[in-house]
Amino acid sequence: MKNSYKRVDAHLSSLGYCTRSDAKKFLKMNELTVNKERIYNPSIKAYHDEIKINEKILDPESFTILLNKPAGVICSHNDAGVLIYSLLPQRWNQRKPKISTIGRLDVDTTGAILITDDGVLNHRLTNPKKDISKVYEVDLKVPLKGDEEDIFASGELLLNGEKKPLLPAKLEIISPTKVRLEIFEGKYHQVKRMFAAVGNRVVKLHRVSFDGYTVEDLKEGDYKIIRVN
Ligand code: URA
Repeated sequence: MKNSYKRVDAHLSSLGYCTRSDAKKFLKMNELTVNKERIYNPSIKAYHDEIKINEKILDPESFTILLNKPAGVICSHNDAGVLIYSLLPQRWNQRKPKISTIGRLDVDTTGAILITDDGVLNHRLTNPKKDISKVYEVDLKVPLKGDEEDIFASGELLLNGEKKPLLPAKLEIISPTKVRLEIFEGKYHQVKRMFAAVGNRVVKLHRVSFDGYTVEDLKEGDYKIIRVN
C-alpha cells in the first residue's frame, strides 16, 4: 500500500480535496492534523497515513472501486448526459491520476463495473489476451431455439465485422427468455451481438460479476472500495 511522504498541499490536491492554491483556506475551514497535531501550514511534509481531516483518515492514494451501474448512466469522462463518475464523491473526480472505468458498459446495461486510478491494472484487465470472466444476466426478446448453448461454447462463432471467432462462452438457461452468460473477452457490444447472431435480441442486460467481483450485495448506484493499491 502506498504511503507517500510529501507536502500536505500536494496530498490534498492529488486526492482531490482542494487545489494546491486553495490549501491554506482548506486548512482554516477543516481540522487537518498530522500525528494528531493541528496544522495550518500546507507546506509541511507528512506521510499519507499521518494525516487526518476532521478526524477521518485520508482517501487511499490508489484504489479500485466496484460500482453497481444503473441504467441511463454513461461510462465516459466527457459525453453529454449522466456520467458514471457523478455517482462518486465529487473530490474523487479531481484526483490525480484520474480514475477511469475498466472497460465500459453500454448506457442501458446495469451491473458490475470497476473504476480505478491504476493504469497498469486497467490495462491488465482489459487486455484481450487475459481470460477475465464476465457474467451477464440476459433477458431475451424471443424464446431460445435450443442450439445457443452449443454455438456459444464452440469457440467458432464469428461476429459480423470480426476476423477471429469468439472464445468459448458458457450459457446457463434460467427460462426460455432468461439466461446467464459467462464470457472471457470484451468485444464491442459483445453480448448483444452474440444473441443477434443466433436470431434473438437482448432486451435487458445486467453484469452480475467482473473478474469474480459481484454486485449481488450492492444496490444500484452503490459502490465499494475493493482494493487499495
Ligand atoms: N455486451 C453488450 O452488448 N453490452 C454491454 O454493455 C456489455 C457487454
